[in-house]
Amino acid sequence: MKIRILGSGAGGGLPQWNCNCANCRRARQSGGDLLPRTQSSIAVSGNGVEWVLVNASPDLLAQLRSHPDLQPARAMRDSAIAAVVLCDAQIDHVTGLLMMRERTSPLPLYACAPVLDDLSTGLPLVPLLGHYCGVQTHMVVPGEPFSVAACEGIRFTAIPVESKPPPYSPRRESAAPGDNIALLIDNLDTGRRAFYAPGLAQMNADVLGAMRGADLVLVDGTFWTATEMIDLGLSTKHAADIGHLAQRGEDGRPGMIDWLDTLPRGTRKVLTHINNTNPILDPRSVEHAQLRAHGIDVARDGMQFEV
Ligand code: MLT
Ligand code: MN
Ligand code: ZN
Repeated sequence: MKIRILGSGAGGGLPQWNCNCANCRRARQSGGDLLPRTQSSIAVSGNGVEWVLVNASPDLLAQLRSHPDLQPARAMRDSAIAAVVLCDAQIDHVTGLLMMRERTSPLPLYACAPVLDDLSTGLPLVPLLGHYCGVQTHMVVPGEPFSVAACEGIRFTAIPVESKPPPYSPRRESAAPGDNIALLIDNLDTGRRAFYAPGLAQMNADVLGAMRGADLVLVDGTFWTATEMIDLGLSTKHAADIGHLAQRGEDGRPGMIDWLDTLPRGTRKVLTHINNTNPILDPRSVEHAQLRAHGIDVARDGMQFEV
């Protein structure tokens, strides 16, 4: 099973269109060492031909242009994307759905009930796409494994996580189970497993248990510190306010690094969904070196894993 990172940036990507923070400025310099990053998405495939898109980034078209093998060209109109699975209804994970409107058949879309609800109300992409290709919705139930036609060797399981529904959701401050999920992605041939959670605000026993059983852990790398946006004067929001656990702990509470340190030896640990303010984006930063000392990698667009 192949897991490819199409986009390793958080909402806004790197550089973010209206940002002149140090990282965004450096990422605009061609040939520099801060690699630009598109907004958060992965693709998963058993056979390297058919792929499941996990989250549909607003940068989807650019991502597809960067990965020509995602156009298998078996027909005049074709795509390698067999289906889309959503982890939440945030703008950076769903607006790419609009870019697939030229499909010649309804788009198979897998998401939990609260996400499908947001996508029929506050951000009505599902009814809207009904005027184009149409969407074939499949309601995902947390804890109940599912697979996708054309990719039967892969099993997905949604694990509810504590994070945040989008700002436009009526449940922004009172999330329901399924508003935000992690995905367990099992290769049924090898018995190997990946864990993917681009948004994770707080650890709990279920989520930690799911991470512990995975060979590859691809997890929320949004912020280095919980007050990063406040400290840079860019926002008044704490990481928890927008649904993310920072890498560094705060006030004696563990951060993402501390949790990743508890995973079994040999687990591949990679941070993704990285905000443009995060110092780990600079491969020469002390923060990046600290991650490496903990055996943690920083995702880049185009990275691929064999699971
Ligand atoms: C988030 O994860 O907090 C989102 O990236 C926010 C957004 O896309 O606006
Ligand atoms: Mn996001
Ligand atoms: Zn920036």
